[in-house]
Amino acid sequence: MVELALPNNSQVTEGKVWPKPAGASRTREFKVYRWSPDDDANPRVDTYTIDLDDCGPMVLDALIKIKNEIDPTLTFRRSCREGICGSCAMNIDGTNTLACTRGIDDVKGEVRIYPLPHMPVVKDLVPDLTRFYAQHRSIEPWLKTETPEPRTEWRQSKEDREKIDGLYECILCACCSTSCPSYWWNGDRYLGPAILLQAYRWLIDSRDEATGERLDNLEDPFRLYRCHTIMNCAKACPKGLNPAKAIAEIKKLMVERRV
Ligand code: SF4
Ligand code: SF4
Ligand code: FES
Repeated sequence: MVELALPNNSQVTEGKVWPKPAGASRTREFKVYRWSPDDDANPRVDTYTIDLDDCGPMVLDALIKIKNEIDPTLTFRRSCREGICGSCAMNIDGTNTLACTRGIDDVKGEVRIYPLPHMPVVKDLVPDLTRFYAQHRSIEPWLKTETPEPRTEWRQSKEDREKIDGLYECILCACCSTSCPSYWWNGDRYLGPAILLQAYRWLIDSRDEATGERLDNLEDPFRLYRCHTIMNCAKACPKGLNPAKAIAEIKKLMVERRV
């Protein structure tokens, strides 16, 4: 029989249980994934107890409190703390979401926090998004035109402008792509929901004049056609966007240009 062994450092172990705050009457446990490239240890899950009466309401507030007051080695990304920069995306209570917009009270019981799934980890809650950003670069996310740009503001009709609603709001947090099974298994070749939503954002912009070239770039059995409409992406998006719909629209454009 074939013997299968787990790769080194793939087993998650029970970590350190940090002391509870003294005298607190309303507390909550946070179970946080920890892994460092600087030693040879397995990943572990540390337990921190937070006094909710001395902490902001969001999961990010708790992480910042842990880092500032309990354990400065805890590593995570964050910047805007208001759902705009996309950098605090992580898996909270089994769902990919933004730590700064997920209320602690929205989670029942202990709060389990892991990095975005199926991505290499840089450290603790920080995923390596190198490939994700390279894929974004590959769709050339800027306006491409032949005609000279106007010297003043480049106006669109109200109807044309409305076509990018539901697309321009994407903050590239990667919550959708990292919840997409097709992207988990074929992320080296399939662009995934976030990048395809971005691709559609430029395809549908009335000012862009590179539609044919953009569609050529996506016409590939893997880059676009690995979407099997499983819809995890739309469920995961913390901005309420629907990447699956954008992907379906790109497929429609592909069909339309063939007839
Ligand atoms: S609808 Fe497509 S992109 Fe969205 S989760 Fe499913 S396979 Fe992935
Ligand atoms: S579509 Fe939503 S989940 Fe996906 S990257 Fe954009 S904002 Fe994040
Ligand atoms: S810190 Fe910017 S989206 Fe959460």
